[in-house]
Amino acid sequence: MNIEAKRILLTGGAGFIGTQLTKRLVEKNHIVIFDSLHRNALRYTDLQSHPNVTLVKGDVLDKAGLLEATRGCDIVIHLAAIAGVDTVMGMPTQTMKVNLLGTLHALDAAVEAGVKRFVDFSTSEVFGSHVYMAEEHNATALGVVGESRWTYAVSKLAAEHLTHSYHKEYGLAVVTIRPFNVYGPQQVGIGAIHTFVEDAIQGKDLVIHGDGNQIRAWCYIDDMVDGAVLCLEKDEAVGHVFNIGNPRGTVTVANLAHLVKRLAESDSKIIYGYKDYVDIELRIPSIKKAQNMLGYRPKVDLEEGLLRTIQWYREQLDDQADQT
Ligand SMILES: NC(=O)c1ccc[n+]([C@@H]2O[C@H](COP(=O)([O-])OP(=O)(O)OC[C@H]3O[C@@H](n4cnc5c(N)ncnc54)[C@H](O)[C@@H]3O)[C@@H](O)[C@H]2O)c1
Repeated sequence: MNIEAKRILLTGGAGFIGTQLTKRLVEKNHIVIFDSLHRNALRYTDLQSHPNVTLVKGDVLDKAGLLEATRGCDIVIHLAAIAGVDTVMGMPTQTMKVNLLGTLHALDAAVEAGVKRFVDFSTSEVFGSHVYMAEEHNATALGVVGESRWTYAVSKLAAEHLTHSYHKEYGLAVVTIRPFNVYGPQQVGIGAIHTFVEDAIQGKDLVIHGDGNQIRAWCYIDDMVDGAVLCLEKDEAVGHVFNIGNPRGTVTVANLAHLVKRLAESDSKIIYGYKDYVDIELRIPSIKKAQNMLGYRPKVDLEEGLLRTIQWYREQLDDQADQT
């Protein structure tokens, strides 16, 4: 599908990924952002006053409101979610409701409005705690009941099943994306890179939770946006699930702290703190399916992405200092 002159609804479009996707799509399309503004990365941009952007403050739990915003749209990109370990563990009930019922409402609205493509943002957490070169057809994990962290993965996994059921039963053209640790400028949720970079620039201690040997593959935001756009453009993506990430960005959390400290030329100390939650020990994707079917190629390596991120946070802090 040619992504031009389309009306595209982004639930959660004010978040980190939604804002960057809007930037990529806005010149040739009309973007409707439907977001509760629980988080807001739009504030770092001029997008709200862009003639091709309509911002609707709304909650995906409000089915009628979401349907109204979806009418007349060609494409829905469903990003609205409660995300981030700390946030999820603080509100596990809301996580289940927003991530599962919100997806149900978005799917119903998409069918009723007759949209041509529905892109569902899931998560790599559906693979569980030990994920080495995970492929899309590998079994997903269910998590231990009562451990709040898993409400996120389980709600997202149920939402994936729901999304693909709508494809099979109602013919909705769906694609699911499983992002693997996305980072970059204008990230509004808390994450290891966000926190390390802010602390390193300000000379604060970089605190590693646990012994720092957790392994992650970090994907720069522009590469994530490339993957999402390919899922819109390529008709062969319909009915499929894709890992989108960058296996070349693999590092332990301790090494990440040292790398950020070096690249930011920071005097911060690296210290080890207590970890009071269940963690993912190892998470590296296989992106072969996205490479072969979509031509997806992540381009920004970790050092380059970190330098760009450090630069942006530095400018932010300088601006804040100028205003005080
Ligand atoms: N960033 C990552 O590394 C990553 C990794 C895996 C999965 N994901 C998924 O990708 C999607 C986007 O992630 P992100 O990093 O941009 O997250 P984000 O938190 O920055 O964005 C999510 C947006 O959803 C909105 N939202 C929350 N509850 C809502 C509700 N009830 N109604 C309407 N809007 C609501 C928030 O205000 C926010 O703007 C999410 O679905 C997330 O689960 C992200």
